[in-house]
Amino acid sequence: MSSDTAPQVTPMPQHVAIVMDGNGRWAKQRGKPRTYGHRRGARAARAAVEHCVRLGIPNLTLFAFSSENWSRPVEEVNVLMTLFLRALRNEVKDLVKYGVRLRFVGDVTQLSPALQQAMARAVEDTSAGTKLNLNIAVNYGGRWDIVQAAKSLAEQVRRGELEPDAIDAGLFQRHVCLGDLPEPDLFIRTGGEVRISNFLIWQLAYTELHFTACMWPDFGAEEFDVAIASFNRVQRRFGQTGEQVEAVGGA
Ligand code: IPE
Ligand code: IPE
Ligand code: MG
Repeated sequence: MSSDTAPQVTPMPQHVAIVMDGNGRWAKQRGKPRTYGHRRGARAARAAVEHCVRLGIPNLTLFAFSSENWSRPVEEVNVLMTLFLRALRNEVKDLVKYGVRLRFVGDVTQLSPALQQAMARAVEDTSAGTKLNLNIAVNYGGRWDIVQAAKSLAEQVRRGELEPDAIDAGLFQRHVCLGDLPEPDLFIRTGGEVRISNFLIWQLAYTELHFTACMWPDFGAEEFDVAIASFNRVQRRFGQTGEQVEAVGGA
C-alpha cells in the first residue's frame, strides 16, 4: 500500500474540507493590504489541490467565500470576486491536466453573470476529471444548505411524490450539497480560530477536526501532511467502544 512519493501512513482521508482562513492577518503582519493576502491565498489553494492529486485524496472541498462574507467592505468583496474570476480563467487548463473535476456549492445565483458563466464553463471543461473532485464553496452557508434541502423535500411532498414519513437522515443527506460524495473525514481550519463559521454543518457531523494557527497563505504540503498525520492518529469510533473498533480493524 505504501508509495515512494507519499511517506504518510495509510489510510488517506477520502474527503478533506478546508476553511482557508487568515489571509487578511497574514498580509497585515507584513504591512500589506488584506487583498495581498487573498492573492497569496489563491496560490496556497492551488498548492493544496496539487497535494491532494499527488497523495491520491479523491475529494477536496474549499471554503472560498461564505454567505456572511458579503458584509465585508465592498472593495474587498470586489477583489475577491475578481481574483476568483481570474483563477477560473488561468487554472482550468491545469485542472484538466491533473484530472480534477470542478464543482461549486453555494447560492451561485447571487454572483455576477460573468462569474456564473465562467463557473459553468469551468465545470463543463473539467467534467471528465477522475482523480480529484474539487468542490469550491462560494456564497455558501451551512444553514442555507440545510434550508435548501428542506425546501426541495417539501416541494416533493407538495407534488405528492414523497410521504413525510419517508424523510430520514439518509434521504436528507442526499439533498444537502455534496450528498453524493463521502462525508468529509478530515476538516482543516487555518488561521487559529476554533470554529466552523457556518461551513458544512450537516456534513461535518462525524468529521475529524484539525485546527492550526498557520495562516492560509503559509499552508503548504508540510502543514497538510501534519493534518493528515493527526487524522491517522485518531481512532474513529462512530459511537462504538474502542474495543469494538479494534476487533473489526484488527481482524
Ligand atoms: C479567509 O481569510 C478568506 C476569506 C474569508 C475570503 P480572511 O480574509 O478571513 O483573513 P483573516 O481571517 O481576516 O485574517
Ligand atoms: C470563513 O472565514 C469563511 C472562509 C474562509 C471563506 P471567515 O474569516 O469569514 O470566518 P469568521 O468570520 O472569522 O468566523
Ligand atoms: Mg477570517
